[in-house]
Amino acid sequence: MPMDMNAFKLELQERKERIDKSLLKYLVKEDTHPAVIHQAMHYAVFNGGKRLRPMLVLEGAAIAAGNPEIAMKTACGLELIHCYSLVHDDLPAMDDDDFRRGKPTCHRVFGEANAILTGDALLTAAFELITGNADEPGVQPQQVVMVIREIAAAAGSQGMIGGQIMDLAAENESIDLATLQTLHSLKTGALFVTALRAGALLGNIDAGGLQALTSYAQHFGLAFQITDDLLDIKGDQILLGKPVGSDAKNHKSTYPSLLGMEQAEILARRSVEQCLASLEGFGSEADFLRQLANFTLERQS
Ligand code: IPE
Ligand code: IPE
Ligand code: MG
Ligand code: MG
Ligand code: MG
Repeated sequence: MPMDMNAFKLELQERKERIDKSLLKYLVKEDTHPAVIHQAMHYAVFNGGKRLRPMLVLEGAAIAAGNPEIAMKTACGLELIHCYSLVHDDLPAMDDDDFRRGKPTCHRVFGEANAILTGDALLTAAFELITGNADEPGVQPQQVVMVIREIAAAAGSQGMIGGQIMDLAAENESIDLATLQTLHSLKTGALFVTALRAGALLGNIDAGGLQALTSYAQHFGLAFQITDDLLDIKGDQILLGKPVGSDAKNHKSTYPSLLGMEQAEILARRSVEQCLASLEGFGSEADFLRQLANFTLERQS
């Protein structure tokens, strides 16, 4: 499948704008009392995120049900969880970063206490929104319950938070490659996996299809985080919208720090090949996922 990168970037932009519109509709208005928390939530959400996780939710639903829109509330909910994770990830007690998505981080603008509460509020708002997916015509409440259980597990202590804990524990430590892979698959992979699965589960999918999408998302998460680590070294701060050199500053364990840039790039490429192999049972309905995997190797932000 030949890939026109410019056309694909336009496609990503269009999808992002659709998701942004829905996020704006679902989030409590900024001037709602108490205004500071709603302002901070808007600040943390509307700032140029790529919206890849909600895109995967919608794509899962498109593949399984032929209609992405049935999963929009769950898609937006997952993005709120991701935004919360970034607000907390940037806090002084964690990565201590001053810029995110091209703007001063939430705690730099609203203060640390408010930033902690902003993360908490985004996480809880996410589940309120995802529960609302049961109102969608054609979606059964049992499907939504299953999806909530999966997303909660993926975001929790055996998912993303588990990975963040491992990430902090590995600062100033030398860890082996298997441990680093587990760390990445939890802190970053878990949300990508649950995103694609959630959309597919809302749309009904057979076990083989679900397994294939799960495998794709696992490899995608790894390729994505390796690229994130590479961009933290060689990226352009303006394009990235966040500081370059954050990992070195914090003595993080990353693929480039463990293996060097070249080997890390090879592993990212190999993970993308595994993404594509996972989709062999699908036809053109999986082309967006194929292009997204390839795009991840080239991304600058
Ligand atoms: C950044 O995620 C955090 C990681 C898990 C690497 P993204 O690169 O998807 O960040 P946004 O949402 O586009 O800002
Ligand atoms: C963050 O990983 C993963 C999260 C769960 C938020 P990083 O710490 O590498 O993400 P960035 O580089 O700050 O976006
Ligand atoms: Mg971090
Ligand atoms: Mg960070
Ligand atoms: Mg990073």
